[in-house]
Amino acid sequence: MTIRKILTLPDPRLRVTTRKVTSFDSHLQTLINDMLETMYDAPHGVGLAATQIGEDLHVAVIDVSADRTEPLILINAEILEQKNIVTLDEACLSVPGGGAKVKRADWVKFRSLDREGKSYEQEATGLFAEAVQHELDHLDGRLYIDQLSKLKRDRVIKQMEKFLRLSQNQL
Ligand code: NI
Repeated sequence: MTIRKILTLPDPRLRVTTRKVTSFDSHLQTLINDMLETMYDAPHGVGLAATQIGEDLHVAVIDVSADRTEPLILINAEILEQKNIVTLDEACLSVPGGGAKVKRADWVKFRSLDREGKSYEQEATGLFAEAVQHELDHLDGRLYIDQLSKLKRDRVIKQMEKFLRLSQNQL
Protein backbone atom coordinates (compact mmCIF):
# COMPACT_ATOMS: atom_id res chain seq x y z
CA MET A 1 0.00 0.00 0.00
CA THR A 2 1.15 3.50 -0.77
CA ILE A 3 0.24 6.82 0.76
CA ARG A 4 -0.70 8.97 -2.21
CA LYS A 5 -0.46 12.74 -2.47
CA ILE A 6 -3.80 14.42 -1.83
CA LEU A 7 -4.46 17.06 -4.48
CA THR A 8 -5.51 20.51 -3.33
CA LEU A 9 -7.32 23.38 -5.01
CA PRO A 10 -7.07 24.57 -7.75
CA ASP A 11 -5.84 21.27 -9.24
CA PRO A 12 -8.09 20.61 -12.29
CA ARG A 13 -8.13 16.86 -11.58
CA LEU A 14 -10.46 17.64 -8.65
CA ARG A 15 -13.04 18.75 -11.24
CA VAL A 16 -13.10 15.54 -13.26
CA THR A 17 -16.32 13.53 -13.56
CA THR A 18 -15.30 9.95 -12.86
CA ARG A 19 -15.94 6.81 -14.92
CA LYS A 20 -17.95 3.91 -13.54
CA VAL A 21 -15.87 0.91 -12.45
CA THR A 22 -16.35 -2.08 -14.76
CA SER A 23 -13.41 -4.28 -13.78
CA PHE A 24 -12.76 -5.53 -10.24
CA ASP A 25 -9.16 -6.35 -11.01
CA SER A 26 -5.87 -5.96 -9.16
CA HIS A 27 -5.55 -2.37 -10.35
CA LEU A 28 -8.79 -1.53 -8.53
CA GLN A 29 -7.76 -3.43 -5.40
CA THR A 30 -4.46 -1.53 -5.29
CA LEU A 31 -6.28 1.76 -5.76
CA ILE A 32 -8.66 0.97 -2.87
CA ASN A 33 -5.78 -0.05 -0.58
CA ASP A 34 -3.88 3.13 -1.44
CA MET A 35 -6.98 5.24 -0.80
CA LEU A 36 -7.53 3.63 2.61
CA GLU A 37 -3.91 4.14 3.62
CA THR A 38 -3.99 7.75 2.39
CA MET A 39 -7.23 8.47 4.28
CA TYR A 40 -5.95 6.95 7.52
CA ASP A 41 -2.69 8.88 7.20
CA ALA A 42 -4.56 12.18 7.01
CA PRO A 43 -5.44 13.72 10.36
CA HIS A 44 -9.24 13.77 10.78
CA GLY A 45 -9.73 12.16 7.37
CA VAL A 46 -13.13 10.45 7.39
CA GLY A 47 -13.40 10.00 3.66
CA LEU A 48 -11.46 10.14 0.42
CA ALA A 49 -12.56 10.13 -3.21
CA ALA A 50 -10.47 8.86 -6.14
CA THR A 51 -10.37 12.31 -7.75
CA GLN A 52 -8.45 13.58 -4.71
CA ILE A 53 -5.48 11.42 -5.68
CA GLY A 54 -5.84 12.08 -9.41
CA GLU A 55 -7.75 8.90 -10.37
CA ASP A 56 -10.89 9.11 -12.50
CA LEU A 57 -12.76 6.02 -11.28
CA HIS A 58 -16.02 6.13 -9.29
CA VAL A 59 -14.45 4.96 -6.01
CA ALA A 60 -14.56 6.46 -2.51
CA VAL A 61 -13.60 5.25 0.95
CA ILE A 62 -15.21 6.34 4.22
CA ASP A 63 -14.55 5.59 7.88
CA VAL A 64 -16.49 7.61 10.45
CA SER A 65 -15.84 5.24 13.38
CA ALA A 66 -14.17 6.73 16.47
CA ASP A 67 -11.20 4.35 16.35
CA ARG A 68 -11.04 4.33 12.52
CA THR A 69 -11.41 0.58 12.16
CA GLU A 70 -14.58 0.38 10.05
CA PRO A 71 -13.67 1.15 6.43
CA LEU A 72 -16.46 1.29 3.90
CA ILE A 73 -15.81 1.10 0.16
CA LEU A 74 -18.13 2.89 -2.26
CA ILE A 75 -17.97 1.91 -5.93
CA ASN A 76 -20.41 3.28 -8.51
CA ALA A 77 -22.50 4.39 -5.53
CA GLU A 78 -25.68 6.42 -5.82
CA ILE A 79 -28.04 8.02 -3.34
CA LEU A 80 -31.52 6.50 -3.58
CA GLU A 81 -33.32 8.59 -0.97
CA GLN A 82 -32.49 11.49 1.31
CA LYS A 83 -34.29 13.60 3.91
CA ASN A 84 -33.94 16.05 6.81
CA ILE A 85 -31.82 18.88 5.42
CA VAL A 86 -29.55 20.35 8.11
CA THR A 87 -26.70 22.86 8.23
CA LEU A 88 -23.38 21.31 9.17
CA ASP A 89 -19.72 22.26 9.49
CA GLU A 90 -17.76 20.78 6.64
CA ALA A 91 -14.13 20.58 5.60
CA CYS A 92 -12.17 18.76 2.93
CA LEU A 93 -8.66 17.31 2.68
CA SER A 94 -8.36 18.99 -0.73
CA VAL A 95 -9.14 22.40 0.80
CA PRO A 96 -7.01 22.02 3.94
CA GLY A 97 -7.07 24.54 6.77
CA GLY A 98 -10.56 25.82 6.01
CA GLY A 99 -14.12 24.97 6.84
CA ALA A 100 -17.63 26.33 6.44
CA LYS A 101 -21.26 25.50 7.03
CA VAL A 102 -23.16 23.78 4.22
CA LYS A 103 -26.57 22.16 3.81
CA ARG A 104 -26.73 18.37 3.74
CA ALA A 105 -29.35 15.69 4.20
CA ASP A 106 -29.08 14.20 7.69
CA TRP A 107 -30.32 10.83 6.39
CA VAL A 108 -29.54 9.07 3.14
CA LYS A 109 -30.12 5.64 1.69
CA PHE A 110 -27.57 4.63 -0.91
CA ARG A 111 -26.70 1.71 -3.15
CA SER A 112 -23.12 0.74 -3.91
CA LEU A 113 -20.86 -2.08 -4.98
CA ASP A 114 -18.28 -3.50 -2.61
CA ARG A 115 -14.67 -4.20 -3.64
CA GLU A 116 -15.66 -7.59 -5.10
CA GLY A 117 -18.43 -6.02 -7.20
CA LYS A 118 -21.29 -7.19 -5.00
CA SER A 119 -24.20 -4.77 -4.63
CA TYR A 120 -25.31 -3.52 -1.21
CA GLU A 121 -27.73 -0.94 0.15
CA GLN A 122 -27.22 1.01 3.35
CA GLU A 123 -28.75 3.85 5.34
CA ALA A 124 -26.61 6.55 6.91
CA THR A 125 -27.24 9.38 9.34
CA GLY A 126 -25.26 12.32 10.76
CA LEU A 127 -21.55 12.47 9.91
CA PHE A 128 -21.81 9.21 7.95
CA ALA A 129 -24.59 10.65 5.74
CA GLU A 130 -22.60 13.87 5.31
CA ALA A 131 -19.51 11.91 4.25
CA VAL A 132 -21.44 9.88 1.66
CA GLN A 133 -22.80 13.07 0.07
CA HIS A 134 -19.42 14.84 0.24
CA GLU A 135 -17.52 11.94 -1.39
CA LEU A 136 -20.13 11.34 -4.11
CA ASP A 137 -19.95 15.06 -4.95
CA HIS A 138 -16.16 14.67 -5.37
CA LEU A 139 -16.73 11.87 -7.89
CA ASP A 140 -18.76 14.30 -10.02
CA GLY A 141 -16.05 16.96 -9.71
CA ARG A 142 -17.92 18.96 -7.07
CA LEU A 143 -16.48 20.41 -3.86
CA TYR A 144 -18.36 21.61 -0.79
CA ILE A 145 -17.14 25.16 -1.36
CA ASP A 146 -19.22 25.25 -4.57
CA GLN A 147 -22.26 25.62 -2.30
CA LEU A 148 -20.90 28.80 -0.66
CA SER A 149 -21.38 32.43 -1.59
CA LYS A 150 -18.36 33.97 -3.33
CA LEU A 151 -17.49 35.88 -0.16
CA LYS A 152 -17.43 32.76 1.99
CA ARG A 153 -15.67 30.70 -0.68
CA ASP A 154 -12.92 33.31 -0.99
CA ARG A 155 -12.49 33.23 2.80
CA VAL A 156 -12.06 29.43 2.81
CA ILE A 157 -9.56 29.64 -0.05
CA LYS A 158 -7.56 32.29 1.84
CA GLN A 159 -7.54 30.04 4.92
CA MET A 160 -6.23 27.22 2.73
CA GLU A 161 -3.49 29.33 1.17
CA LYS A 162 -2.31 30.44 4.60
CA PHE A 163 -2.40 26.84 5.86
CA LEU A 164 -0.36 25.57 2.89
CA ARG A 165 2.18 28.38 3.27
CA LEU A 166 2.70 27.54 6.96
CA SER A 167 2.96 23.78 6.26
CA GLN A 168 5.63 24.40 3.64
CA ASN A 169 7.63 26.54 6.04
CA GLN A 170 7.74 23.64 8.49
CA LEU A 171 9.28 21.35 5.84
NI1 NI B 1 -13.35 16.25 0.39
